[in-house]
Amino acid sequence: MDRIEKVIIASAVVLLLVFFGAIVIAATGYGVDVPTCVTDRKPFTEGRAPFKTSDQPLRYEAHTVARMWNFDPPEITIPPGAELDLYLSAADVVHGYFVEGTNINLMAVPGAVTYQRVKFDREGTYRILCHEYCGTAHHLMAGTIVVSQAAMEEQQ
Ligand code: CUA
Repeated sequence: MDRIEKVIIASAVVLLLVFFGAIVIAATGYGVDVPTCVTDRKPFTEGRAPFKTSDQPLRYEAHTVARMWNFDPPEITIPPGAELDLYLSAADVVHGYFVEGTNINLMAVPGAVTYQRVKFDREGTYRILCHEYCGTAHHLMAGTIVVSQAAMEEQQ
């Protein structure tokens, strides 16, 4: 085998290890996750406000349906430090679901349910924007995620 071939093969192996290491560090150290699709849509055909699914760790689940030109429900309220299992579906066309200041960037695709688990450590109001052109009022399609202990206590 030629010396150059050996160098190229060795470089490829080293690069593969570096890329694999970067994926492992992103997944474990930074919590970067790939959205997954759930083929069975029920019970995700209707929006549902967050409901608690676990105390330890504190976890909520919410179902959002995107349609022209709103998110149902338009507002999601959870306490700080809680994990949120977010299920997203679309009632008509493809919509986007981008939450400012976070790494939440999902697609709402008719016939599929998109899922992401997210954790909000800091209190605040986060804007949800549709970032996929979906018709004449696309620019008005927005919602909010409210992370607030006070708002949670108000609801109870
Ligand atoms: Cu929905 Cu743009």
